[in-house]
Amino acid sequence: MNLDVNAMGLRIYPDPILKTKAEAFSLPLPENMEAVGQKMLDIMNEHQGIGLAGPQAGLSLRVIVFDLSEDRNEPHILINPEIVYASKDKVKEEEGCLSFPEIHGYVIRHEKVKVTGYNVKGEAVEYEGEGLMAAMFQHEIDHLDGIAFVDRLGTTGKMKAKNMLEALRESYAG
Ligand code: CO
Repeated sequence: MNLDVNAMGLRIYPDPILKTKAEAFSLPLPENMEAVGQKMLDIMNEHQGIGLAGPQAGLSLRVIVFDLSEDRNEPHILINPEIVYASKDKVKEEEGCLSFPEIHGYVIRHEKVKVTGYNVKGEAVEYEGEGLMAAMFQHEIDHLDGIAFVDRLGTTGKMKAKNMLEALRESYAG
């Protein structure tokens, strides 16, 4: 099986794919899995993001990509990511999202998480992240469940984002 890389592109709110629960991959992975991940990384880098989830690239499948390195030369592609541990301690940091251009707001996240999944070869992998990396994992995995960071804003954050969201809905081409 191959996925259509040419059909992939950044999806912006209120694209319904962002509200849709993404499907898990089954093994063996698609033959062009690496090209799919690379395309997601290209979209992410083009828009200076640190992470991107499948639905944001028009793919309702459980895959995320990320690169938290300063030089943007440590790309990761993680398939069927799952949070297997989340610390009780939480932190509140400002987030943004490529699918919600120019909107930012504070979100409470677990300070540390452990995440399992597969790499593009279908091998089991595990990551431990804290701080920005932990928030990124929670943000991207939320996308796979149809949840965006704006859904997790507090009352003030939601109020601040309201007009921007309305503007995005008005300019959405469908
Ligand atoms: Co996002």
